[in-house]
Amino acid sequence: MAKGLLFLAAAASLTGSTFAACTPADSKTYDYIVVGSGAGGIVVADKLSEAGKSVLLLERGPPSTGKFNGTQKPSWLSGTNLTRYDVPGLFNQIWADGVPSCPDTGVQAGCVLGGGVAVNSALYWKPHPDDWDVNFPTGWKSTDMAKYTDSVFSRIPGTYIPSKDGKLYLQQAYDTVSKGLDSAGFKYVVANDAPTSKNMSYAHPAFYIANGERHGPLRSYLETAYARSNFALYTDSNVRRVVRTGGHVTGVEVQCNGGNGHSGTINVTPGTGRVILAAGTFGTARLLFRSGIGPTDILNVVKGSSTDGSTMISTDQWINLPVGSNVNDHVGTDIQISHPNVVNYDFYGAWSNPVSADKDAYLNKRSGALTVVAPNLGPIAWTMVNGTDGKVRHIQWQMRVEGRSNTAMTITQYLGMGTTSRGKIDIQANMNTRVVTAPYLRDAADKQAAIDGLEAMRGYLSKISGVSWITPTASQTSQAFINSVPATVASRNSNHWVGSATIGSDDGRTGGKAVVDLDTKVYGTDNLFVVDASIFPGITTGNPSAAIFIAAEKAADRILALAAPAQGRRFKA
Ligand SMILES: Cc1cc2nc3c(=O)[nH]c(=O)nc-3n(C[C@H](O)[C@H](O)[C@H](O)COP(=O)(O)OP(=O)(O)OC[C@H]3O[C@@H](n4cnc5c(N)ncnc54)[C@H](O)[C@@H]3O)c2cc1C
Ligand SMILES: *[C@@H]1O[C@H](CO)[C@@H](O)[C@H](O)[C@H]1NC(C)=O
Ligand SMILES: *[C@@H]1O[C@H](CO)[C@@H](O)[C@H](O)[C@H]1NC(C)=O
Ligand SMILES: *[C@@H]1O[C@H](CO)[C@@H](O)[C@H](O)[C@H]1NC(C)=O
Ligand SMILES: *[C@@H]1O[C@H](CO)[C@@H](O)[C@H](O)[C@H]1NC(C)=O
Repeated sequence: MAKGLLFLAAAASLTGSTFAACTPADSKTYDYIVVGSGAGGIVVADKLSEAGKSVLLLERGPPSTGKFNGTQKPSWLSGTNLTRYDVPGLFNQIWADGVPSCPDTGVQAGCVLGGGVAVNSALYWKPHPDDWDVNFPTGWKSTDMAKYTDSVFSRIPGTYIPSKDGKLYLQQAYDTVSKGLDSAGFKYVVANDAPTSKNMSYAHPAFYIANGERHGPLRSYLETAYARSNFALYTDSNVRRVVRTGGHVTGVEVQCNGGNGHSGTINVTPGTGRVILAAGTFGTARLLFRSGIGPTDILNVVKGSSTDGSTMISTDQWINLPVGSNVNDHVGTDIQISHPNVVNYDFYGAWSNPVSADKDAYLNKRSGALTVVAPNLGPIAWTMVNGTDGKVRHIQWQMRVEGRSNTAMTITQYLGMGTTSRGKIDIQANMNTRVVTAPYLRDAADKQAAIDGLEAMRGYLSKISGVSWITPTASQTSQAFINSVPATVASRNSNHWVGSATIGSDDGRTGGKAVVDLDTKVYGTDNLFVVDASIFPGITTGNPSAAIFIAAEKAADRILALAAPAQGRRFKA
């Protein structure tokens, strides 16, 4: 979706900053250091600490939600235990002020405690079985993931009725469109009761919201981890790179990023300790590059940089893996319709000047319009397209009340599971990651699927009586429209990036695509792992975070089952 690339114009560089309040690293060591507190990092850190291991979770950004002492909020929330990240009606604000973002990442992401799961729309449903069966290798198929799916959904049930009074609010657009979908033959489902019904079906959007507040891993896995004495969390602490000798990692270098940050080298338990990278598709790739792991041409950029050149691990210890070469995202194409029944709610206005009755209903009862995730999402519909190459593609249609007029709706076509196009990311001399090749519609069958899917949806939506088309216009062909939207990050970004450190048995050191093995261990290392969206070999059917939580539980089990690296097996330089 063309929802934009807003960056903090004056964001401080992370490299070399010093802050008075920083705490120097002490000599304590940890069985596991997990880098990044997003969808993957929180879940894996909780599971490892539940198994009795000592775990340090490092997050570069500040606290976000109220429960973890976040402070970012509009004035009407002052004196409450809530921040902008808790209140569904304020989730939109990131598109207005660009806070929080990761200024060195090249796409929108959340560099705060919780990462993407603190800043996203909290859309949440069980993965379709093909998300595992088509994309993932042996051992990671849908039957292998079933018990982790149950576990995730018992801890984070989700709901499609976010208001505590049990009522659905602002349903005008939902009601209008769902009538059209009904007459076009779509089947209404409750998304999380029907994970396999993803062709010609639609649902109310489900969210990880509970008690009218953002829930998800921050209100489940992180709370249980945080209550354990063998778990520690440092926010405002940016990891620069892992410290390794050959394939053995001894710790991480941390740079204080303000607030309560820490700095210095923090080590894992000698011999048996492990480091898990969970810094997101871009953040994990950056850490691997800065640690001398990746394609040689990209590592040479790090070596040539003023920040890392003189301290980078020597070339004879580089591990040549295709980090960043298999990235994917949903292909987002926005279409717009309007209908006289659609009513727009001013969620942006709710930041500084909420409707007073809605504010009171929210603050006093966690009910009403401000429990609706801005900008009023839904319905969500799913279709499938049989590709001209014989491969099935899944499409999620995500509708929201926003557009060129007060009665407009934007509908994003997310072309997902089954796409074969892939992109590439790398790092620049200033240590910023960037997309070098966008993963969108590079393959002819992917493009045809976007066109065929759109053509069909135009027919379905035209069954809504009184609908008008804004884009595509009635006279524009679906092919001309799909071709008119550039296949660039600026126009198609869906914020669902995956795949920079793909899992697989095809070892990337010898020509395969995989960066991590089936235990999520980085090839060529004995104690470095990746547990986040980076390991996904392909994009999911719908919003990815549920699948990332499930994969992280699975990964924790596999990592805990591995024998510790033998003492003395350390590579010598
Ligand atoms: C605006 C937006 C809306 C979205 N909407 C939805 C949605 O509604 N539903 C859904 O399922 N998905 C949604 N997504 C996608 C989803 O949030 C991501 O797929 C998911 O969060 C990725 O998980 P991750 O663990 O790979 O990384 P992230 O969640 O990005 O977490 C990475 C964490 O690592 C930290 N980090 C990075 N580098 C370092 C470092 N060097 N040192 C220390 N810490 C570091 C980051 O600050 C961040 O907290 C959305 C994403 C965005 C950006
Ligand atoms: C805020 O306090 C209320 C009432 O005690 C509680 O139910 C809620 O979970 C808290 N929310 C946060 C984000 O801490
Ligand atoms: C939040 O503040 C409380 C009270 O000062 C403190 O006990 C708790 O540890 C803090 N939590 C975090 C995540 O910093
Ligand atoms: C999806 O539904 C359409 C319309 O009913 C049907 O033609 C198509 O075969 C279905 N696709 C798959 C993969 O089941
Ligand atoms: C699409 O593919 C599915 C699965 O391969 C198949 O069952 C279905 O019949 C196909 N539909 C059409 C319209 O060819």
